[in-house]
Amino acid sequence: MTTSPRRYHITTFGCQMNKADSERMAGILEEMGFAGTEDPNSADLILYNTCTIRDNAEQKVYSYLGRQAKRKHEQPDLMLVVAGCVAQQEGEALLRRVPEIDLVMGPQHANRLQELLEQVLAGSQVVATEPIQIIEDITKPRRDSAVTAWVNVIYGCNERCTYCVVPNVRGVEQSRSPAAIRAEIEVLGQQGYKEITLLGQNIDAYGRDLPGSTPEGRHQHTLTDLLYYIHDVPGIERIRFATSHPRYFTERLIRACAELPKVCELFHIPFQSGDNEILKAMARGYTQEKYRRIIDTIRHYMPDAAISADAIVGFPGETEAQFEKTLQLVEDISFDHLNTAAYSPRPNTPAALWENQLSEEVKSDRLQRLNHLVSVKAGERSQRYLNRIEEVLVEGSNPKDPNQVMGRTRGNRLTFFPGNIAELQGQAIKVKIVEVRPFSLTGIRE
Ligand code: SAH
Ligand code: SF4
Ligand code: F3S
Repeated sequence: MTTSPRRYHITTFGCQMNKADSERMAGILEEMGFAGTEDPNSADLILYNTCTIRDNAEQKVYSYLGRQAKRKHEQPDLMLVVAGCVAQQEGEALLRRVPEIDLVMGPQHANRLQELLEQVLAGSQVVATEPIQIIEDITKPRRDSAVTAWVNVIYGCNERCTYCVVPNVRGVEQSRSPAAIRAEIEVLGQQGYKEITLLGQNIDAYGRDLPGSTPEGRHQHTLTDLLYYIHDVPGIERIRFATSHPRYFTERLIRACAELPKVCELFHIPFQSGDNEILKAMARGYTQEKYRRIIDTIRHYMPDAAISADAIVGFPGETEAQFEKTLQLVEDISFDHLNTAAYSPRPNTPAALWENQLSEEVKSDRLQRLNHLVSVKAGERSQRYLNRIEEVLVEGSNPKDPNQVMGRTRGNRLTFFPGNIAELQGQAIKVKIVEVRPFSLTGIRE
């Protein structure tokens, strides 16, 4: 057996769930006596926490892995770990493709990192991808921020959107108990965290798998109930949550957000397409009219709420006219932010097998046109902040200007203003906005 390695490096691809999982895995490694390093080439253990939502995300992982696999020939005790969604999707096939890998572990196994590494140190190559009951967070995450923290509330996804790998790689929905969630948030409050983001791929599904969640008693275990239940945790000033599914989004939730002062007026509700036929082919289970009604209801209760979403262009069979309905929706709703992507066929998903795939040219042309509209609209949305006083929770210094600090408004706009980070970190400061850009703002202290 080799002596215990000293330094670890983690590269995280993909979404907030992966970021949260990486923080927990970093916590485990530090408990085991490893120290973190930004430089993979000086590490004794390299962990790639991978994403497979689109083909380009998956390919990136292979190119990173290839480089480190070579290095392993010079440094045989280098440990190579592939975690996350590519690991889950590929399983053992990853070992055949890159035999230098020591450990392949799916997202459900993140909290088991220590035990799995012990098997590696004992001399085996390990693949951990079987579905399991996610064990309660006993780990202490090594969080990247000292101000804002992720809190998982539900793992997995039971939807079956026809383009999406997430249910395959993240498994079925598993909600954490309200008590465990509250306990984690209480510790965060004591540690000085000011903002939390509750996480779930389909956060509106929260609670439906919990014991006691009978049809009659269901309201005890919804996301709305959870917001009321955690709202008074001392120290926490802001509460966010993501991602919402239009099918399950309720007026009761909207009212709770309007009523609860710590819950930020920010809604991330992917719509994917503005065309009903495409939505049906995607198996999203709502119409664009329903989506518009949700946004209207949000704006009825909170006229200034920030709205963001995800959209896919070039889904199989999408006509130019159907794509234009997506443009129309973006035009009409005026999102503060929109994540856009060209459709990418994914392994073991229904839509990947359909014959009506569009060419890369059509997809990238539509993506460019949509992105152009998105930044025009975001620019317009930013205008409303000009000369306004906004509350900015200071997270760090501006990497481009050490005399400025940066943070976010309640609506999640990145904001810079002159100030000293040592004095201001973690404080919610009133800032007058003097300059606006599509996705960021500059202000001065009031
Ligand atoms: N659970 C969330 C988002 C999950 S994945 C939801 O239901 O909306 C994040 C985003 O990636 C999706 O919203 C979708 O816009 C995009 N996406 C997922 N699969 C994709 C694919 N095969 N090709 C392109 N984009 C995809
Ligand atoms: Fe994927 Fe749909 Fe689940 Fe979102 S709701 S993670 S898009 S299957
Ligand atoms: Fe990617 Fe897995 Fe998240 S596929 S988007 S890292 S759930």
